[in-house]
Amino acid sequence: MARIVAVANQKGGVGKTTTAVNLAASVAASEHRVLLVDFDPQGNASSSVGYTKDRIELSIYDALVGEVAMKDCIRPTEITTLFVVPATMDLVGAELELIGSDDRESYLKNALTTVSDEYDYIIIDCPPSLGMLTLNALVAADGVVVPMQAEYFALEGLGALVSTIEKVRDAYNPGLDLEGILFCMYDPRTNLAGQVKGEVESHMPNKVYDTLIPRNVRLSESPSHGKPVLLYDFRCAGSKSYLKLAQEFVERTAA
Ligand SMILES: Nc1ncnc2c1ncn2[C@@H]1O[C@H](COP(=O)(O)OP(=O)(O)O)[C@@H](O)[C@H]1O
Ligand SMILES: [Mg+2]
Repeated sequence: MARIVAVANQKGGVGKTTTAVNLAASVAASEHRVLLVDFDPQGNASSSVGYTKDRIELSIYDALVGEVAMKDCIRPTEITTLFVVPATMDLVGAELELIGSDDRESYLKNALTTVSDEYDYIIIDCPPSLGMLTLNALVAADGVVVPMQAEYFALEGLGALVSTIEKVRDAYNPGLDLEGILFCMYDPRTNLAGQVKGEVESHMPNKVYDTLIPRNVRLSESPSHGKPVLLYDFRCAGSKSYLKLAQEFVERTAA
């Protein structure tokens, strides 16, 4: 059975998609079977592994509310052990359709259960909100990875996310774990970055990943080439940092 991890933060632009895609690719590169689930209607994770809108036939929407089996929505990628379920704008509709149904928070969990045995890890890229889609991701997940930027007010956002995780744990998913907090676009030269990191570490002991993701141009370029960074520029600092994160991530989940 796969370990299911949601990459979540209600704030946009903090590095969720970059992390979901490149963590998934880097874990897959060490020969684990990984399924990347794009759960944001923007579809950025899909296009980051080569599935632009015009190339998507079936998407996560079809598996969620349609009559289509999850396994039929899964597509291969350039990395042989990495697979993806793409997303399109249709997913906005799913959010509305689910609201009226019983069990509305468990649709993704039920869909993933049907394919979980085929993978070592399932990594879900969440949208920038704490709405019905993120709720579905948190109900389906064993763990949550929280990418954040080291800036003012980051702690407030983290508080809201942690309390959501606690509510989901109490109401639906007792096994849900805050797996780790990841600093993205991290600049070690600024005092603010060090201060914010220090504060988060003292509020959430043992949760911050040792690996820090630096700001790296290659990370922002690779999506437009439809490739995870390690297929775009294996030697760049971005590739190295996500490979290191993958190692730390796998060690943590095995512990
Ligand atoms: N470490 C990084 N270095 C440089 N650019 C980054 C890095 N991480 C993310 N970006 C860029 O920042 C923007 C927001 O990142 P993204 O992963 O899409 O955030 P989110 O999914 O949280 O909205 C994107 O343009 C992305 O390419
Ligand atoms: Mg995103």
